[in-house]
Amino acid sequence: MSVGSLGVLGVVGTAADGIETLRTGLVEPAIALGWQAAVTLTPNAGRWLRANGELDRLESLTGLPVRDAPRLPTEPRPHPVADCYVVAPASANFVAKLATGIADNQALTQVGEALGTIGVPVVVFPRINAAHARHPAWEGHIEALRKAGVELVYGADVWPLDEPRQGPADRELPWAAVLGSAHRVSGT
Ligand SMILES: Cc1cc2nc3c(=O)[nH]c(=O)nc-3n(C[C@H](O)[C@H](O)[C@H](O)COP(=O)(O)O)c2cc1C
Repeated sequence: MSVGSLGVLGVVGTAADGIETLRTGLVEPAIALGWQAAVTLTPNAGRWLRANGELDRLESLTGLPVRDAPRLPTEPRPHPVADCYVVAPASANFVAKLATGIADNQALTQVGEALGTIGVPVVVFPRINAAHARHPAWEGHIEALRKAGVELVYGADVWPLDEPRQGPADRELPWAAVLGSAHRVSGT
């Protein structure tokens, strides 16, 4: 396990395009910069990354289990306490649930609690398309997260919105902007 001089970065991934690059785009660079990375996935993202072998690679790299399920009350906490959380890519579903306080999986439980914890910054990159953004509830979700102090990697400069099924599925995620936001909000 690499113990990071910058602290513990809670890396949270969801079932959105680009999650397969979480290790190479975010976790490896974060560790190289001095973070200890602890990865948690939604159950859907866990299924995707288990199927393509990335979950095992993330565990080898971080020296920690990748969490995609809650622990039993009798089990010890498998991750150290995070100093900062990054949710990338965040599905439209995850953003909606986080904004409304739903915590029905391990990833939402951790990030939802961090939103209300003093001194734990949260960065969210919504990996969405133009249709997600036109949903009548979307702007309210974004406002709720902003009000909670979430640092959003969001907007035409970092992620111009494609119409559904029109952008390339392998479009590169703005990993440098995501990691830069984590450094800014955590003062590292
Ligand atoms: C191949 C594939 C790619 C997807 N890409 C996205 C995406 O980029 N953004 C998004 O919001 N939803 C995407 N979805 C839909 C989500 O996976 C779906 O809403 C799921 O319930 C999200 O689960 P989670 O938020 O718990 O991870 C995709 C689904 C599939 C099958």
